[in-house]
Amino acid sequence: MIDENDFPYDFLGKILISAEQIEQRVSELAERITNDYQQSDKLMLLGLLRGSIVLMTDLMRKINRPLTIDFMSVSSYAGSETSGFVRIDSDHKIPIQGWDVILVDDIIDTGLTIQTVRKLLLDRNPKSLRICALLDKVARHRVELKIDYLGFEIPDYFVVGYGLDIDEKGRNLPYIASVDPEKYRRQG
Ligand code: IMP
Ligand code: MG
Repeated sequence: MIDENDFPYDFLGKILISAEQIEQRVSELAERITNDYQQSDKLMLLGLLRGSIVLMTDLMRKINRPLTIDFMSVSSYAGSETSGFVRIDSDHKIPIQGWDVILVDDIIDTGLTIQTVRKLLLDRNPKSLRICALLDKVARHRVELKIDYLGFEIPDYFVVGYGLDIDEKGRNLPYIASVDPEKYRRQG
Protein backbone atom coordinates (compact mmCIF):
# COMPACT_ATOMS: atom_id res chain seq x y z
CA MET A 1 0.00 0.00 0.00
CA ILE A 2 1.14 3.53 -0.79
CA ASP A 3 -0.22 6.18 1.58
CA GLU A 4 0.14 9.96 1.98
CA ASN A 5 3.48 9.53 3.75
CA ASP A 6 4.98 7.51 0.93
CA PHE A 7 6.80 9.22 -1.93
CA PRO A 8 8.10 6.43 -4.15
CA TYR A 9 9.47 8.95 -6.71
CA ASP A 10 12.08 11.56 -5.87
CA PHE A 11 10.68 14.21 -8.24
CA LEU A 12 7.44 14.81 -6.34
CA GLY A 13 6.52 18.28 -5.07
CA LYS A 14 3.50 18.33 -2.78
CA ILE A 15 0.26 16.42 -2.56
CA LEU A 16 -2.52 18.55 -4.07
CA ILE A 17 -5.43 16.13 -3.72
CA SER A 18 -5.54 13.22 -1.28
CA ALA A 19 -6.83 9.72 -2.02
CA GLU A 20 -9.77 10.37 0.35
CA GLN A 21 -10.73 13.58 -1.45
CA ILE A 22 -10.63 11.77 -4.79
CA GLU A 23 -12.71 8.89 -3.47
CA GLN A 24 -15.33 11.28 -2.15
CA ARG A 25 -15.50 13.31 -5.37
CA VAL A 26 -15.65 10.25 -7.65
CA SER A 27 -18.58 8.97 -5.55
CA GLU A 28 -20.39 12.26 -6.09
CA LEU A 29 -19.79 12.16 -9.84
CA ALA A 30 -21.01 8.56 -10.02
CA GLU A 31 -24.15 9.50 -8.12
CA ARG A 32 -24.87 12.34 -10.54
CA ILE A 33 -24.28 10.06 -13.53
CA THR A 34 -26.54 7.40 -11.99
CA ASN A 35 -29.32 10.00 -11.65
CA ASP A 36 -28.78 11.63 -15.05
CA TYR A 37 -28.97 8.34 -16.95
CA GLN A 38 -32.01 6.77 -15.27
CA GLN A 39 -33.77 6.66 -18.67
CA SER A 40 -30.82 5.15 -20.52
CA ASP A 41 -30.05 1.47 -20.90
CA LYS A 42 -27.22 2.12 -23.35
CA LEU A 43 -24.72 4.01 -21.23
CA MET A 44 -21.10 3.73 -22.25
CA LEU A 45 -18.00 5.04 -20.49
CA LEU A 46 -15.34 5.61 -23.14
CA GLY A 47 -11.95 6.08 -21.48
CA LEU A 48 -8.90 7.66 -23.05
CA LEU A 49 -5.87 5.47 -22.45
CA ARG A 50 -3.81 5.39 -20.41
CA GLY A 51 -4.47 8.30 -18.07
CA SER A 52 -8.14 7.51 -17.44
CA ILE A 53 -7.75 3.92 -16.24
CA VAL A 54 -7.79 4.53 -12.49
CA LEU A 55 -10.74 6.92 -12.72
CA MET A 56 -12.54 4.47 -15.02
CA THR A 57 -12.17 1.52 -12.66
CA ASP A 58 -13.29 3.53 -9.62
CA LEU A 59 -16.10 5.40 -11.39
CA MET A 60 -17.63 2.37 -13.12
CA ARG A 61 -18.00 0.47 -9.84
CA LYS A 62 -19.97 3.34 -8.34
CA ILE A 63 -22.46 3.85 -11.20
CA ASN A 64 -25.68 2.06 -10.35
CA ARG A 65 -26.92 1.58 -13.95
CA PRO A 66 -26.41 -0.94 -16.77
CA LEU A 67 -23.03 0.05 -18.15
CA THR A 68 -20.64 -0.78 -20.96
CA ILE A 69 -17.04 0.36 -21.14
CA ASP A 70 -14.59 0.82 -23.97
CA PHE A 71 -11.28 2.57 -24.48
CA MET A 72 -9.42 4.44 -27.14
CA SER A 73 -5.88 5.67 -27.23
CA VAL A 74 -4.78 8.98 -28.67
CA SER A 75 -1.50 10.84 -28.37
CA SER A 76 -1.03 14.55 -28.13
CA TYR A 77 1.94 14.88 -25.84
CA ALA A 78 5.68 14.29 -25.84
CA GLY A 79 7.04 14.67 -22.32
CA SER A 80 5.17 17.50 -20.62
CA GLU A 81 4.81 19.93 -23.54
CA THR A 82 1.67 20.09 -25.64
CA SER A 83 2.19 19.53 -29.33
CA GLY A 84 -1.30 20.70 -30.26
CA PHE A 85 -2.30 17.77 -32.43
CA VAL A 86 -3.99 14.45 -31.79
CA ARG A 87 -3.29 11.06 -33.35
CA ILE A 88 -5.53 8.01 -32.87
CA ASP A 89 -3.27 5.14 -31.84
CA SER A 90 -6.05 2.68 -31.11
CA ASP A 91 -9.78 3.16 -31.68
CA HIS A 92 -12.70 1.96 -29.56
CA LYS A 93 -14.08 -1.54 -30.39
CA ILE A 94 -17.82 -1.06 -29.86
CA PRO A 95 -19.65 1.14 -32.39
CA ILE A 96 -21.08 4.09 -30.43
CA GLN A 97 -24.04 4.83 -32.70
CA GLY A 98 -27.17 5.07 -30.53
CA TRP A 99 -25.24 4.98 -27.26
CA ASP A 100 -25.23 7.56 -24.47
CA VAL A 101 -21.48 8.05 -24.33
CA ILE A 102 -19.46 9.66 -21.56
CA LEU A 103 -15.93 10.38 -22.71
CA VAL A 104 -13.59 10.00 -19.73
CA ASP A 105 -10.16 11.62 -19.50
CA ASP A 106 -7.68 12.25 -16.72
CA ILE A 107 -7.03 15.95 -17.19
CA ILE A 108 -8.02 18.83 -19.43
CA ASP A 109 -5.07 21.11 -20.12
CA THR A 110 -5.37 23.15 -23.34
CA GLY A 111 -8.54 21.18 -24.11
CA LEU A 112 -7.30 20.39 -27.61
CA THR A 113 -7.24 16.63 -27.12
CA ILE A 114 -10.73 16.27 -25.76
CA GLN A 115 -12.14 18.81 -28.23
CA THR A 116 -10.68 16.93 -31.20
CA VAL A 117 -11.81 13.52 -29.94
CA ARG A 118 -15.27 14.91 -29.15
CA LYS A 119 -15.75 16.16 -32.72
CA LEU A 120 -14.56 12.87 -34.13
CA LEU A 121 -16.97 10.89 -31.94
CA LEU A 122 -19.94 13.14 -32.78
CA ASP A 123 -19.46 12.17 -36.44
CA ARG A 124 -20.14 8.57 -35.33
CA ASN A 125 -23.67 9.44 -34.20
CA PRO A 126 -23.87 8.61 -30.51
CA LYS A 127 -27.28 9.27 -28.99
CA SER A 128 -25.57 11.73 -26.63
CA LEU A 129 -22.02 12.65 -25.72
CA ARG A 130 -20.79 14.14 -22.47
CA ILE A 131 -17.36 14.71 -20.99
CA CYS A 132 -15.98 13.59 -17.66
CA ALA A 133 -12.52 14.53 -16.40
CA LEU A 134 -10.84 14.17 -13.04
CA LEU A 135 -8.84 17.41 -13.32
CA ASP A 136 -9.06 20.70 -15.17
CA LYS A 137 -6.33 23.32 -15.59
CA VAL A 138 -8.77 26.10 -16.44
CA ALA A 139 -6.06 28.75 -16.84
CA ARG A 140 -4.57 26.85 -19.79
CA HIS A 141 -7.65 26.27 -21.92
CA ARG A 142 -7.20 27.22 -25.54
CA VAL A 143 -10.67 26.17 -26.69
CA GLU A 144 -14.20 26.70 -25.43
CA LEU A 145 -15.20 23.50 -23.66
CA LYS A 146 -17.97 22.21 -21.43
CA ILE A 147 -16.92 19.55 -18.94
CA ASP A 148 -20.13 17.88 -17.76
CA TYR A 149 -18.60 15.87 -14.90
CA LEU A 150 -15.49 17.41 -13.38
CA GLY A 151 -13.54 16.23 -10.36
CA PHE A 152 -11.33 19.20 -9.47
CA GLU A 153 -9.99 22.44 -10.89
CA ILE A 154 -6.24 22.73 -10.33
CA PRO A 155 -3.66 25.49 -10.84
CA ASP A 156 -1.13 25.29 -13.64
CA TYR A 157 1.17 22.66 -12.14
CA PHE A 158 2.30 19.50 -13.87
CA VAL A 159 0.79 16.71 -11.78
CA VAL A 160 1.05 12.92 -11.49
CA GLY A 161 -0.85 10.14 -9.73
CA TYR A 162 -4.21 8.38 -9.96
CA GLY A 163 -3.43 7.42 -13.56
CA LEU A 164 -1.58 10.58 -14.57
CA ASP A 165 2.07 10.32 -15.54
CA ILE A 166 5.18 12.19 -16.40
CA ASP A 167 7.00 10.24 -19.10
CA GLU A 168 5.09 7.11 -17.99
CA LYS A 169 6.05 7.46 -14.33
CA GLY A 170 3.75 8.18 -11.40
CA ARG A 171 0.48 6.56 -12.53
CA ASN A 172 0.40 4.23 -9.51
CA LEU A 173 0.22 6.96 -6.85
CA PRO A 174 -3.17 6.98 -5.08
CA TYR A 175 -3.07 10.78 -4.67
CA ILE A 176 -2.48 13.72 -7.05
CA ALA A 177 0.93 15.33 -6.52
CA SER A 178 2.77 18.12 -8.29
CA VAL A 179 6.06 17.40 -10.05
CA ASP A 180 8.99 19.48 -8.82
CA PRO A 181 10.62 20.60 -12.09
CA GLU A 182 14.01 21.12 -10.43
CA LYS A 183 14.10 17.61 -8.99
CA TYR A 184 12.79 16.13 -12.22
CA ARG A 185 15.47 17.85 -14.29
CA ARG A 186 18.27 16.86 -11.94
CA GLN A 187 17.14 13.28 -12.01
CA GLY A 188 17.24 13.28 -15.84
P1 IMP B 1 -4.65 18.90 -23.75
O1 IMP B 1 -4.91 18.44 -25.15
O2 IMP B 1 -3.67 20.05 -23.73
O3 IMP B 1 -5.90 19.22 -22.99
O4 IMP B 1 -3.87 17.75 -23.05
C1 IMP B 1 -4.50 16.79 -22.29
C2 IMP B 1 -3.58 15.63 -22.05
O5 IMP B 1 -2.27 16.04 -21.70
C3 IMP B 1 -4.05 14.81 -20.86
O6 IMP B 1 -4.91 13.77 -21.27
C4 IMP B 1 -2.77 14.28 -20.30
O7 IMP B 1 -2.40 13.07 -20.93
C5 IMP B 1 -1.73 15.32 -20.65
N1 IMP B 1 -1.49 16.23 -19.52
C6 IMP B 1 -1.76 17.55 -19.46
N2 IMP B 1 -1.39 18.08 -18.28
C7 IMP B 1 -0.90 17.05 -17.55
C8 IMP B 1 -0.36 16.95 -16.21
O8 IMP B 1 -0.26 17.91 -15.43
N3 IMP B 1 0.06 15.71 -15.83
C9 IMP B 1 -0.02 14.61 -16.63
N4 IMP B 1 -0.53 14.66 -17.87
C10 IMP B 1 -0.95 15.87 -18.34
MG1 MG C 1 -3.95 11.56 -21.32
